[in-house]
Amino acid sequence: MRVERRPVSEQESRRANGPDWDRYADEYQSTHGEFLGDAGFVWGPEGFTEAEAGVLGDVADRDVLEVGSGAGQCSRWVRSRGGRAYGLDLSFRQLQHSRRIDAETGVCVPSVLGTATALPFADDSFDVVFSSFGALQFVSEIDAAVSETARVLRPGGRYAFSITHPTRWMFPDDPGVEGLTASQSYWDRTPYVEVDDATGVVSYVEHHRTLGDWVSLLAGAGFMITELLEPEWPEGHERVWGGWSGVRGRLTPGTALFGARLLPT
Ligand SMILES: C[S@@+](CC[C@H](N)C(=O)[O-])C[C@H]1O[C@@H](n2cnc3c(N)ncnc32)[C@H](O)[C@@H]1O
Repeated sequence: MRVERRPVSEQESRRANGPDWDRYADEYQSTHGEFLGDAGFVWGPEGFTEAEAGVLGDVADRDVLEVGSGAGQCSRWVRSRGGRAYGLDLSFRQLQHSRRIDAETGVCVPSVLGTATALPFADDSFDVVFSSFGALQFVSEIDAAVSETARVLRPGGRYAFSITHPTRWMFPDDPGVEGLTASQSYWDRTPYVEVDDATGVVSYVEHHRTLGDWVSLLAGAGFMITELLEPEWPEGHERVWGGWSGVRGRLTPGTALFGARLLPT
């Protein structure tokens, strides 16, 4: 496998990331499942929870969609608080894990296989749409993903999502001190791409947008931004998750959490 920075279309991103998440799902759930909690809601590797953040508001009796729902842990938390949460994910294997945890916990998250850029729901279907590190950084056509969210939300509805903090794109993805020296331009939006050496096929893609890009995207789709939270690394939290660690997290933000409301038209 080799790493490149180069433009990638929406189709190519999806063709790479769906199978990649299918391959990775078992390892992902066995490595991170306990930390996530079967019916837990963390916004990222810092362990910052929705109970602390409160960006979704009171979810009881609300129609809620999780985009990039994985094994549905966050949606199960919403259900356990009286919300009608539904999941959508690109990876069949991730959704199989969701079904497994539904059966184990007795808290079922009805979920569909799909993509963030073409939500299979009618207009004005939901009060809340959210993604916890789900979908958005894997999508090339981000305008479509944000406008699809606006379409399925009811006026006044809430949108919240966490992503890798955009400033992290300046640094090598290394949890140690090597990951603290800026070596890439923050403004370079060229996607991160992994290519299979043997076949030349793109096998994984991530897309970068700056903080300013996110403000423009949300405002352009009719949202008013209500929060931009940058969770601090908690005292005594020593878990390493990919490039996230205490070494870096005590100095630079690893996660950005946006909250927004859809303005009435
Ligand atoms: C880091 S996981 C986050 C899932 C869950 N919130 C968690 O913390 O485990 C990212 C999820 O996004 C999904 N995903 C990637 N691209 C997507 C797309 N275009 N549309 C919907 N989901 C997508 C992946 O299959 C994966 O389950």
